[in-house]
Amino acid sequence: SLKVAEQIKFKRKTALLGGGQDRINAQHKKFAGDSVVTGHGLVNGRPVYIFSQDFTVFGGSLSTVHAKKICKIMDQAMLVGAPVVGLNDSGGARIQEGVDSLGGYADIFQRNVLASGVIPQISLIMGPCAGGAVYSPAITDFTFMVEDTSYLFITGPEVVKSVTNVVVSQEELGGAKTHTSISGVAHKSFTNDVEALLQLRDFMGFLPQSNRHPSPIRATDERCDLDVQILDTIIPVETTAAYDMLDVIINIVDEREFFEIMPKYAKNIITGFGRMNGRSVGIVGNQPKVAAGVLDINASTKAARFVRFCDAFNIPIITLVDVPGFLPGVQQEHSGIIRHGAKLLYAYAEATVPKLTVITRKGYGGAYDVMASKHLRGDVNYAWPTAEIAVMGAKGAVSILYRGKTDVERYEAEYIEKFGNPFPAAQRGFIDDIIEPRTTRWRLCRDLDLLETKDLKNPPKKHGNIPL
Ligand code: COA
Repeated sequence: SLKVAEQIKFKRKTALLGGGQDRINAQHKKFAGDSVVTGHGLVNGRPVYIFSQDFTVFGGSLSTVHAKKICKIMDQAMLVGAPVVGLNDSGGARIQEGVDSLGGYADIFQRNVLASGVIPQISLIMGPCAGGAVYSPAITDFTFMVEDTSYLFITGPEVVKSVTNVVVSQEELGGAKTHTSISGVAHKSFTNDVEALLQLRDFMGFLPQSNRHPSPIRATDERCDLDVQILDTIIPVETTAAYDMLDVIINIVDEREFFEIMPKYAKNIITGFGRMNGRSVGIVGNQPKVAAGVLDINASTKAARFVRFCDAFNIPIITLVDVPGFLPGVQQEHSGIIRHGAKLLYAYAEATVPKLTVITRKGYGGAYDVMASKHLRGDVNYAWPTAEIAVMGAKGAVSILYRGKTDVERYEAEYIEKFGNPFPAAQRGFIDDIIEPRTTRWRLCRDLDLLETKDLKNPPKKHGNIPL
């Protein structure tokens, strides 16, 4: 113990004298502006604060000054009410500055958290982003990546190898493909830097400046009072046949323009932004083309986060429902589908923005409730004539109610006759109207106009306790 005491004494002394660290700092040259460029400008004519890490200076690593510069623009963005965009390209904490640079990260994280839900925060990963650096993008609302040149990970391949004996490349561990399709850490990837910056500009056109601003409106020449005939032909005659919910979406929104969020992750649910009569809307749709549109863990968390973003930033939500239920299975149950599915339920239930729902076909079981049902304060809930709203499908129901009976087909036909349609739900007021598909676009546009002045508040609280 005498040896330990001596060691502590020595460490204190060298720290006070600026020992080992100063020898490293002696080689730490200074660069004007350090390793980040910060400022503000206009995107689509609206102010945006931005920082861009400069890899040519100490690998874009984060020093005290670097962190201070980012914090400064984040503070200003909060005062003004404008989005913050971060272009990330950094070797992480500035090794020469030791704990100071770690403190700098935490100063940024704290601001990310306080700005969450107040101003939109967007991260574009354009190079390495490792260690402590990953947590700022993780907190921001959207993380986009550039294919083949960017990666995000807590520890790189060398550490992974030494700790777990697994050999993995940077790309496999934390490249754009991994994060957009497997981990769900990133929301979208682009083929190169230029494409990424152009798409980012388009994307920002869907977002309000802050939670104090309404969702933006962009003038459009497209009529919003006409029937869209093609919508009548999308649902197949066979009720179990697949179709593409994207066909429904692009025929509802203005100019067939839809900015999909997380297109490669949990493809059984679609999330993204479009416009209706020029107004930004968030769209969530089950995708019958992938796993019959079933809700599983990944689909639930993907859609829940999207719904919460829209709600925080006054963007109305349109939900297109064709869902056979939650995915059964040991793996899903053991991984906590109850907890994760509840996130989506929670997100819809707490949302106070205008909520418009169209049941195109199946609305079965608990998943019917979850998908912006009337019961979760849906403002307008439509069903197409092809809608089937019931506790479960005919096969499942008959196998439970008439176990062991031989005349299964007759029972199934009876069940479909009774439950395989939208009328019982409409009779109870759970559906406001059964509508021809071709009338969907103009009805939704009209409803959004009406709901522009919607004013609904949740009970005051410090914050809710969403099941994480
Ligand atoms: N602190 C200080 N300097 C750093 C740095 C850091 N965290 N990361 C990189 N640099 C410097 C390098 O010393 C090098 O300087 P030089 O040009 O004077 O030689 C320059 O930035 C470029 O780095 P280099 O390693 O040559 O680039 P690369 O493209 O081969 O590799 C990284 C990039 C990010 C993979 C690699 O630099 C790295 O692993 N950095 C450390 C990552 C890390 O663990 N950070 C701590 C996390 S909190």
